[in-house]
Amino acid sequence: MAMEITPLGPALGGRVTGIDLHRPFDATTAKRIYDAFAVHGVLCFPGQQITASDQIRVASVLGEADGDYRPPSGVLATTNENRGVMLVTNIRKDGRQVGSLPDGEMLFHSDGSHRDRPYRATSLYAIKVPTKGGDTLFANLAAAYDALSDAMKSRLDGLEARHIYIYDTVEREPVSEDQAAASAATHKLVRTHPDTGRESLYLSRLMTQHIVGMDRAESDALLEELFDHAERPEFVHAHRWTPGDLVLWDNRTVNHARTDFSEAETRLLRRYTISEPE
Ligand code: OGA
Ligand code: MN
Repeated sequence: MAMEITPLGPALGGRVTGIDLHRPFDATTAKRIYDAFAVHGVLCFPGQQITASDQIRVASVLGEADGDYRPPSGVLATTNENRGVMLVTNIRKDGRQVGSLPDGEMLFHSDGSHRDRPYRATSLYAIKVPTKGGDTLFANLAAAYDALSDAMKSRLDGLEARHIYIYDTVEREPVSEDQAAASAATHKLVRTHPDTGRESLYLSRLMTQHIVGMDRAESDALLEELFDHAERPEFVHAHRWTPGDLVLWDNRTVNHARTDFSEAETRLLRRYTISEPE
């Protein structure tokens, strides 16, 4: 069975078949996955039956898979098997969340952009999905950058933006940096991908609050225009989950969002992030 990579859709992404991720793979295969990830921004491996340790092993192809996450206190005991795992789920036990990011729609964002050291990549493995909704949307920020006018590209050159996030919020709201649960960082508005050399917009409706040193009204107007641009349908791929899908995405060049779904249905995915090295 040879590994094969075909496009996921016109906007971005690759579908990887012919590989069983429960089995260890060789360095040549790891290199092919790494290279395909850089080119496609999102990789989907359908039909996988993988444990948490398999997922860490696969994610480690892209860098250092994070193992320091602790589930919300007292709900799920930390064991060797779930150490470092983050469950993205609306499951509740005795009214308390078992995981994170439980309910409904989420605006476009890039994981960890509110940190000085954002996550390079995220891996999400579908275990249980609703019959309708709860899709993850991926937006190609390199294509969005390429499509800007030359005038806009020069306007953005050298600009930096402030990214702020309050944990577990899913909507854009004005937040102040001293809000207790907020985390904030400053990043360049345009970033160059270290592997492909392509430039991408680096901003999102959920987390990018304002452009550093710019008048607030002007910053709001410019960001609004860029959010709309980056979310244009031709840059977006909607991923409709099937249990057994493992999806890896590159937070340096892809934004993601989630469509709404019914609270009456269970949604459960297992997530590991991959950090930039210290
Ligand atoms: C995440 C995330 C979206 C989803 O895990 O970082 O944004 O579809 N998930 O659950
Ligand atoms: Mn996310």
